[in-house]
Amino acid sequence: MPPTDYVLSAGLIERLANKIEAETGWSFAGSKRRDLCLAIRRMAESVGMENGEEFVDWLLAGAWDKSKADLCTHYLTIGETYFFREPRAFELVSNYAREKIAAFGAQNTRLRIWSAGCCTGEEAYSIAMALRQSVPQLPARQISILGTDINGRHLQFAQAGMYRQWSFRNFDPALQKLYFSTADEGQYQLNKEIREMVKFSELNLASRVYPSIATSMNAMDIIFCRNVLMYFSRDQAKNVIQRFHLCLADGGWLIVSPSEASAELFSGLAGVYHPDAIFFKKTGPRNASAAAGQGLPGIGKASGGNAGDRVPKQAVSADTAVLPSATVVRPAQPARSKAEKPQTDGHTAGSLSAATNDASLTPMAEHYHAKALTAMEAGDHGDAMQNLKRVLYLQPDSIIAHYLMGVALSGQGRHDTAEKQFDTVLGLLAAIADEDVVPASDGLSAAYLRASVQAFLQKGSK
Ligand SMILES: C[S@@+](CC[C@H](N)C(=O)[O-])C[C@H]1O[C@@H](n2cnc3c(N)ncnc32)[C@H](O)[C@@H]1O
Repeated sequence: MPPTDYVLSAGLIERLANKIEAETGWSFAGSKRRDLCLAIRRMAESVGMENGEEFVDWLLAGAWDKSKADLCTHYLTIGETYFFREPRAFELVSNYAREKIAAFGAQNTRLRIWSAGCCTGEEAYSIAMALRQSVPQLPARQISILGTDINGRHLQFAQAGMYRQWSFRNFDPALQKLYFSTADEGQYQLNKEIREMVKFSELNLASRVYPSIATSMNAMDIIFCRNVLMYFSRDQAKNVIQRFHLCLADGGWLIVSPSEASAELFSGLAGVYHPDAIFFKKTGPRNASAAAGQGLPGIGKASGGNAGDRVPKQAVSADTAVLPSATVVRPAQPARSKAEKPQTDGHTAGSLSAATNDASLTPMAEHYHAKALTAMEAGDHGDAMQNLKRVLYLQPDSIIAHYLMGVALSGQGRHDTAEKQFDTVLGLLAAIADEDVVPASDGLSAAYLRASVQAFLQKGSK
């Protein structure tokens, strides 16, 4: 038991546990409650507070700002990981990539993989190395690997790419030799080519900032989220899984650890069970209404946001086809327009109807759209805008192209011009029912995009 001066009232601890769960997803129910009590003592000491009750009151009062979040993250998360942990998952990555290349050719294949809760980077870099080994013909610029974690210190470590031998406990020495050089004090430096294949970003999985086109957290081929959900309450784990579902491309995979799999939590995804890994496959079209009406901002830096929101259950089919998602950028089905279409600035109801009834991208527009997305991912807003201009020349009413143009302009700090693009988006969206999918958006609903635009407009006006 913690020392007597830290025996806090059960009610106070309960309030803190609830607060932490709402903000981060972590559960301190049952036997884990004791861990929280012990951590409170260490946290209080680290900020020079001797009175535990005062410290908890401070944590509970006011906004959950960065100082509180960082403190809890530091003392309450576990940063245990290593290269090629539970290796079957990396075989899935390699097989998936090979199959996609076989189906569409290396030139037309793009891969988007997310290591959620990536810790110090070993998982994300293992994905990069597995791909380098298995599909060397696929240029690195066509591979996007995102590593996110709530713990900024872990990410700094990941970015440096410097590791001790303990991280290599399940590693082929030949690969270690190939991709690492010996550095000082028993450390090993990962080579630049592999480091450059991965982008790291701070993200609290309990927040509402994903899925998001603006931060490229959408249309994922594979999401790794291993040894993370085990720390979450059931409700919060469910929220995260539902958001992952929205982030996955059709045919994409979610990979968790065997200890984290439960048929109920993953309902709607088809499970493939192995002793050392469980893979869940997304099949069938994304249910756009799942995101509708949720007010998901889906923009900005991949961190922060309010936690604890619920995403409704989705209806998805669960067959077990093995083919990966079909095209690089898949235009969604044209949206159904509302029965009554309002007049909007510069657009008559008639023109909106035409736009929304035939708004999938033509192959040429799709080509430029894909190039724009690649440029956005690389942070090259100028190049993205060049390509978006081409899309808009070919399809002036493409809602998604106007939206991305707004995001790119905003990224360049050109808020006034961005606002005009967003106004156009809102005008075009007025013709689409909330739950309908925005054409070429990879499954985002009109309500979702509208909320995203409004969040951008609010941000720009500050
Ligand atoms: C045990 S490590 C797992 C690392 C890696 N996925 C693996 O399996 O080897 C758990 C990681 O999840 C991160 N984490 C915990 N809660 C999180 C949250 N709410 N959002 C994002 N990351 C979180 C922790 O910071 C930690 O780095």
